[in-house]
Amino acid sequence: MTAKVSDQLQRPLRDLRISLTDRCNFRCGYCMPRALFGADHAFMPRRDLLTFEEILRLARIFTTLGVRKLRLTGGEPLIRRDLDRLVGMLGDVEGVEDISLTTNASLLTADKARALKAAGLNRVTISLDGIDDATFRAMNDVGFPVARVLEGIENAEQAGLSPIKINMVVQRGVNDHDIVPMAGHFRGTPHIVRFIEFMDVGNSNGWRLDQVLPSREVLARIDAHWPLEPVSPNYRGEVAARYRYRDGAGEVGLISSVSQPFCGTCTRVRLSAEGKLFTCLFAAAGHDLRDRLRTGESDEAIREALIEIWSRRSDRYSERRTHETRPVDTRRIEMSYIGG
Ligand code: GTP
Ligand code: 5AD
Ligand code: SF4
Ligand code: SF4
Repeated sequence: MTAKVSDQLQRPLRDLRISLTDRCNFRCGYCMPRALFGADHAFMPRRDLLTFEEILRLARIFTTLGVRKLRLTGGEPLIRRDLDRLVGMLGDVEGVEDISLTTNASLLTADKARALKAAGLNRVTISLDGIDDATFRAMNDVGFPVARVLEGIENAEQAGLSPIKINMVVQRGVNDHDIVPMAGHFRGTPHIVRFIEFMDVGNSNGWRLDQVLPSREVLARIDAHWPLEPVSPNYRGEVAARYRYRDGAGEVGLISSVSQPFCGTCTRVRLSAEGKLFTCLFAAAGHDLRDRLRTGESDEAIREALIEIWSRRSDRYSERRTHETRPVDTRRIEMSYIGG
């Protein structure tokens, strides 16, 4: 039975983003700054994580409410053992049209990429914040070299996990000098670099508006080297605005969550690794689904609870922030907890 649900702003539910772990082997300053995620940080204990079977059960229920796209994320999702087994399970769920993975590619070996593709993963989105090695090593704060991420991208390409999108979070004064070189590196390849405005997610990344380089400026800098023209969205509510090089050398995306928020078409719901459901990236609290799963609630009862949660949803944090020009003052979940 499929019944579409709508929230208070008439937005349907289409995308389920599943965080598989709150751990990551990188310490990107804008996401898991070392000072706050050091050796003594308490990550989720294993028993608190949803099992693959529990995730599958929820995915099945969500597709009856209209979900068609699944994204696996983290922390770093490839830290979770046997991820390809989960992909295989989710691929068999009726209604699922697209399964993608957001990863830093550090663990994306050729074997892993092939196994994920064989299990039914359609594509990957790889985080890479610069093409200049020193800049990137400093940003991931574990000295991880660009060359090894490029190997991961190559492995994904060889395995057919395409189109490959490459996410670069732009911070003024940190990596904005690398925008044009980054575009230049991937020009002429089928990969799509997406430049993301630095957001005030979480409580720990020390966000300031003056560190945000608006997408229009990113666009102007690239366009000055290689002229660009807009392309229409692939689907309604696409987060990235698409542009292509006029000389036919490929495409880039601009994600303007700060300067041009896209809450009006936000059809995304996020599930944390421990089974809490968040109706917005900036929500202060989630709805505990794990307890429902583990106390013997029926699928139908869980489904009713999800309908209730989505029907009440009125989140539009990024649009509110724009009007107030500074972070709206609430405690928020961390990006490493809920995924990108
Ligand atoms: P596809 O179009 O399916 O490839 O994915 P996507 O555009 O949703 O991309 P992805 O999941 O890679 O998101 C890219 C980045 O956009 C994230 O890391 C966030 O920085 C930002 N983003 C994605 N979804 C949201 C959202 O719902 N709200 C806000 N504020 N930012 C988002
Ligand atoms: N601003 C924008 N995007 C962020 N991400 C994480 N933290 C932020 C932030 N503060 C996104 C990036 C990264 C993905 C894992 O999460 O796209 O690639
Ligand atoms: Fe890890 Fe991605 Fe966060 Fe960096 S942005 S610390 S790679 S989860
Ligand atoms: Fe959706 Fe919240 Fe992001 Fe707006 S801020 S696009 S409502 S997740």
